[in-house]
Amino acid sequence: DLNRFFPTEHTLAVIKPDSTQEHKDTIMNRIKEAGFSISQVKETKLTQEMAEEFYKDHKGKDFFNNLVDYMSQGPSIMMILSKENAIAEWREMMGPADPEQAMQVKPDSLRAQFAKSILKNAVHGSSNVQHAMDNIKFIFGDIPS
Ligand code: TYD
Repeated sequence: DLNRFFPTEHTLAVIKPDSTQEHKDTIMNRIKEAGFSISQVKETKLTQEMAEEFYKDHKGKDFFNNLVDYMSQGPSIMMILSKENAIAEWREMMGPADPEQAMQVKPDSLRAQFAKSILKNAVHGSSNVQHAMDNIKFIFGDIPS
């Protein structure tokens, strides 16, 4: 059983609302080309309350209210990506939150190519195993077995 040596990991990937409008197919194709399985996918518009809960770790920061408004402005594509090392690999593919930095350090990343600003930065990815489990449960209700 190869999965014993190369265990499948799951992460939550989100194509943020403006980016869903403009680049949904391009980004989903890039994800598949990179070898991820899209185990589950749905288009969901977060309410303000859901966006506050999703980003609760940032509550109190100066950008929090803008972030909540941005994330609830329209439908996002929510995906469970599955692959060995999915959490780190998806974050690599996203690039840093700030597109200026992304263009310096990872010009082929999604944020270098599609982010408009540090706020409107195209995509989300869970940052560690605990966040991935929390994010997946929050959006899909359960973890793939
Ligand atoms: P963060 O968790 O630092 O980045 P990442 O999305 O790469 O995990 O920040 C979460 C989101 O908050 C980020 O994607 C966009 C927004 N944000 C701002 O609007 N301004 C900021 O200065 C930072 C750091 C984040």
